[in-house]
Amino acid sequence: MRVLGIETSCDETAAAVVDGERRLLSNLVVSQLDEHRPFGGVVPEVAARAHLEYLDSLIARAMDDAGLGYGELDGVAATAGPGLIGGLFVGLMTGKAIAAARDLPLMAVNHLEAHALTARLTDDLPFPYLLLLVSGGHCQLVAVGGVGRYTVYGGTVDDAVGEAFDKTAKLLGLGYPGGPALERAAVDGDPARFPLPRPMLGREGCRMSFSGLKTAVRHTVERLDTLDERTVGDLAAAFQAAVADVLADRCANALDAFARDHGVPGPLVVAGGVAANAALRARLEDLAGARGTRLVAPPLGLCSDNAAMIGWAGVERLRLGCTDGLDARARPRWPL
Ligand code: KG4
Ligand code: ZN
Repeated sequence: MRVLGIETSCDETAAAVVDGERRLLSNLVVSQLDEHRPFGGVVPEVAARAHLEYLDSLIARAMDDAGLGYGELDGVAATAGPGLIGGLFVGLMTGKAIAAARDLPLMAVNHLEAHALTARLTDDLPFPYLLLLVSGGHCQLVAVGGVGRYTVYGGTVDDAVGEAFDKTAKLLGLGYPGGPALERAAVDGDPARFPLPRPMLGREGCRMSFSGLKTAVRHTVERLDTLDERTVGDLAAAFQAAVADVLADRCANALDAFARDHGVPGPLVVAGGVAANAALRARLEDLAGARGTRLVAPPLGLCSDNAAMIGWAGVERLRLGCTDGLDARARPRWPL
């Protein structure tokens, strides 16, 4: 079973072909970072135009890399939401056009579901598992019981954690995108020099909040005379440590709920761009180990937005006969 995946929900234009044996036959991503950097964030209109410019040739290259003609595909999967509507239109309409022209089944994929299922592309991972999804736009703890069977235990009440990384990095003059830059700055920093709050830590449930943490960094910066390199490193380390503490605490509660619901301690799966953060991974690994389970973290390239995960979600859905009509709608909001 071979499925073409198309991803255009934010600022990555991506096309990939995956098969039912979990092979990545091709996997291409064009990042629009350079287009958005001057604005310090993603500009929806700019993103939609860039998707339109890149997507056709990217799909042609993905098919070439896979060594396949369109007639050898078994289906087309395109992200239908949630995300920026202009980009979703471009990707979903392109997917529909290919499906219609080649008489192939279409899967209109939920981007969050694709993140949730990615670990099954890279690992031989049975259901159920607990997913921590941490990206620039999303921040959720979800019990994944099967394809289409998701129980959301909690999520952020304000900023997504990646968004908090990006905003904090901006405050510290670290540029865009902030997550990787902040992690680099934190390497030699002293996390204890500036005490920062741990929002929601110790509270019941799995809700999270990150905007107060970002504000605490802003207040600290405002009180300082100068922001030298050492101070930036110390603040970055303090921020990263606070995020890791909060996420580990929320995950611990989610693992409790998961064990109650499913009778097993895990595994814990982490996905989304922030899963690239080594300090966070280390904390989650410790937590999983202490609970007698393991942490599954897909390779970095498949944690951030990509089309292989969309193609794979397509494979999972196609196997179950969950296909969509050509009237499938793009949905800017689409909770799991
Ligand atoms: O999953 P993703 O590529 O796109 C979204 O769906 O949002 O996630 C991007 C987010 C950005 O906020 C970026 O700053 C963050 O992931 N990120 C990181 C790291 N690498 C990327 N955050 C912390 N540490 C990192 N190493
Ligand atoms: Zn994503």
